[in-house]
Amino acid sequence: MMATTTGTPATKGWAEGWGLFWTLTVAMAAMALSFLFVLGWGTDGYRMVIRATARTSLVLFLAAFAASAAFKLWPGPVTHWLRRNRRQLGLGFAMSHFIHALVIIALWKTDPGVFWVLTNPKSIVTGGTAYVFIALLAATSFDRMVKAMGPKAWARLHWWGVWIVALSFIFTNGKRIPVSGWYALPVALVVAVIVLRVVAGRKRRQAAALA
Ligand code: HEM
Repeated sequence: MMATTTGTPATKGWAEGWGLFWTLTVAMAAMALSFLFVLGWGTDGYRMVIRATARTSLVLFLAAFAASAAFKLWPGPVTHWLRRNRRQLGLGFAMSHFIHALVIIALWKTDPGVFWVLTNPKSIVTGGTAYVFIALLAATSFDRMVKAMGPKAWARLHWWGVWIVALSFIFTNGKRIPVSGWYALPVALVVAVIVLRVVAGRKRRQAAALA
């Protein structure tokens, strides 16, 4: 998802290549700091940043996860932009989740009572496993790592990694549906992108069989 073997687009302004990655990083840092200044560097501010980064993570992950399939099914300027920048969108997702982790640690340190009401050891093990894969995906999103690993091992890691993250989003949002029906929306979005990938994969295989 996050890397291609075809190279990275060069930095061309704020919405392309590494320019896009830094735009996303600065925007998410500004968002987090704004919430902390308005709501305070305490439980309320931390909880808001944890929720907000979970949502920016989902949007960026879905953009990267859908990019190739969307371009295959609907080639055009927008889907081409998505596919060209999927590595930076994927790394933007990893950055968003890095902020999620930093602020989770801040909440645990400052308000362990609320922290343990919001989570439990089982969720920490499953969430921590997803984090290991996110870190591996991010660390191997560079051309030299693709070369060092070899394309087969790289493809296997990225296949498993993106599916584990997709399932984590279904699980973490799905378990909150009893609290609010709105959490069904992110679950439906992840399922829609999975369907998109299956349909695009079938189209790719049919085209290959005809060639
Ligand atoms: C050890 C790992 C993790 C811990 C301790 C953790 C902790 C938390 C906590 C405490 C909240 C609730 C914040 C609140 O309601 O005030 C939260 C929300 C959330 N987290 Fe994490 N998280 C972890 C990993 C992950 C991972 C890997 C994902 C997805 C890939 C994820 C996605 C979410 C989502 C979707 C929400 C709900 C956001 C919303 O309300 O819209 N988390 N997390």
